[in-house]
Amino acid sequence: MTRRGSTAARARLIIVGSGIAGLYAALLATDSGADVVLLSKGQLRDSNTWYAQGGISAVLDGPAPGDTVTAHIADTLQAGAGHCNEEAVRLMCAEASRDIAALQRFGVHFDAAADGGPALGLEAAHSAPRILHAGGDATGAKVTAALIHAVLERQAGGVLTVRTSAHATSLLQQNGKVAGVEFLQDGNRATVHGDAVLLATGGAGQLFARTTNPAVATADGLALAVRAGAATADLEFFQFHPTCLVSSPSAGPAGTPCLDRDPLLISEAVRGEGAVLTDGNGKHFMRAYHPDAELASRDVVSRSIALHLAKLGDPNGHVYLDARDVERINGAGFLARRFPTLTQRTLDAGIDWTRELVPVAPAAHYWMGGVATDAHGRTTVPGLYAAGEVACTGVQGANRLASNSLLEGLVFGRRAIEDFLSGSSAGPSAPALPPRTGNRLASSAAGAGAHATTALSGPPELPRGSDAAQPASAGWKAATVPEPIGRSFDHLEPFSREVLRRLMTAKAGVLRDGVLLAEAAEALDRWAGVVRPDVVPAGGDVREHEDRNLLLAAQLLVAAARERMESLGAHYRSDSPADAAGIADEFAETSRTRPKASLVHD
Ligand code: FAD
Ligand code: SIN
Repeated sequence: MTRRGSTAARARLIIVGSGIAGLYAALLATDSGADVVLLSKGQLRDSNTWYAQGGISAVLDGPAPGDTVTAHIADTLQAGAGHCNEEAVRLMCAEASRDIAALQRFGVHFDAAADGGPALGLEAAHSAPRILHAGGDATGAKVTAALIHAVLERQAGGVLTVRTSAHATSLLQQNGKVAGVEFLQDGNRATVHGDAVLLATGGAGQLFARTTNPAVATADGLALAVRAGAATADLEFFQFHPTCLVSSPSAGPAGTPCLDRDPLLISEAVRGEGAVLTDGNGKHFMRAYHPDAELASRDVVSRSIALHLAKLGDPNGHVYLDARDVERINGAGFLARRFPTLTQRTLDAGIDWTRELVPVAPAAHYWMGGVATDAHGRTTVPGLYAAGEVACTGVQGANRLASNSLLEGLVFGRRAIEDFLSGSSAGPSAPALPPRTGNRLASSAAGAGAHATTALSGPPELPRGSDAAQPASAGWKAATVPEPIGRSFDHLEPFSREVLRRLMTAKAGVLRDGVLLAEAAEALDRWAGVVRPDVVPAGGDVREHEDRNLLLAAQLLVAAARERMESLGAHYRSDSPADAAGIADEFAETSRTRPKASLVHD
């Protein structure tokens, strides 16, 4: 595909990805007169966004009693463990209501409360109910469907070009500026040229054996940007959602974690309605780890589950979500009305959650780190924007607050479009952003096969959250892991995506330590010598491209995790000096007396 002569006067923006960030940005840019080409590697709905359940956090003009934008900012900073970019957080929370209004103009309908106002859900670590949802627990599907409808209308009107099954494989650069994308479609190579590229390629849950993410989440955007020389940030922080349905409770080879092929996230909003976690002995264990129990921030709840299971001698096992009282207290039919999708999906899995417990375990969910951007979505490479989960604006800090991701995609997707329309992306330089953990590897990885690289010049540090901020994990009782998981992993196995995913879960998952991370790095480096993730494959096999992207992303994540010696947010090192002294006696005690948790759900 080449630049169209008839639209030469209109600035052309190529958007890669059709989740909330890409679709919303495409609509805004098109409606402002830009010539937009939208590429997506599957169908338009194939994205993390489609699966979002809980909703979108936003303090509206008529907020819940007592809620304020200031409170949303404070909750976000607290969940982020003092590692957020405060200015970016302020922008996101303050501008949320305008993007919610724009979503509604594009045809999104949020659920209404009995009084006709928006129905606002509560999720963990939010100090007030402020989660807008649609279709109960089908927020992502409803939002995506409306945005896709609007995009296809514009395509039919001839003002927007959509290319599906178009897998972006590399960024094209000209005169030091990103000026196009190479992609695979039906096994054939094609290129599209433009004035700038917005990466909206989402996350990388497929790095781990157990994930809430769909198959498209393979770190492609991050790998493309890194090979083009872009700086990354915060890659050590990967969030694990505490409650993913465990449908096949068997372990993989040599006791390593199993691969869940059809993951079902059980929304945090279920705990927001009062559901609790119990272990295989029926013990309600969360309060022993954190005073906020099930409504502690996500990193705390996932870590508590992982440590509790390790203490019980069953590190790859599961706990249970008990929603029975939610139904009892609110009356028969409440769960089906509030969570229709989850009610059906758990029934499909053979569980009537109004009467039975739901087996759950933490699963890789969201990458706080990503391609470093400023508040206008600009990366360190001129002509290259990033927005949504692929980007790291710093708003999510070391641990994302629930339902802040869809919001980030909206606010910073819009801000990137505003910048593009102002013409500044055509300027000679992108903003100076810091090379943070992982960049040394990134720079060396961006070698032979990359189309071009841009030298990073060691720019100043982005403003980060104040050290004085109280981390959300304050009050959390640490515990050492008696038997580090994954030691039995055979890291001499040859590379395959499945083995990579098991390695990452076993050695760079919820619980990490220096030995596990070093073992992971060794295996990854060995595989990299053969697979060459620094080089774009010449062939047309999409899976080969994804495998290399995943391997590159894994190397970057592990390198960043090895560099950060202390525990912070979602990055928990059981060998961190601060935690060594904090062993929770209660768990030392219970681990001696408690039998191994049952693996069987009955
Ligand atoms: P995505 O929605 O993931 O979209 C990425 C797009 O890029 C896809 O279309 C993909 O196909 C495309 N793509 C990727 N690589 C390429 C390539 N090489 N070439 C072309 N196209 C490519 N967040 C919330 O705020 N609230 C929630 O309630 C919530 N619930 C969630 C529930 C689940 C089960 C999951 C998995 C996530 C949830 N999240 C939630 C997180 C949130 O959904 C995501 O972080 C967010 O949707 C990311 O949006 P995005 O537009 O950045 O990326
Ligand atoms: C959920 O519904 O629990 C997921 C919300 C999120 O990831 O923000």
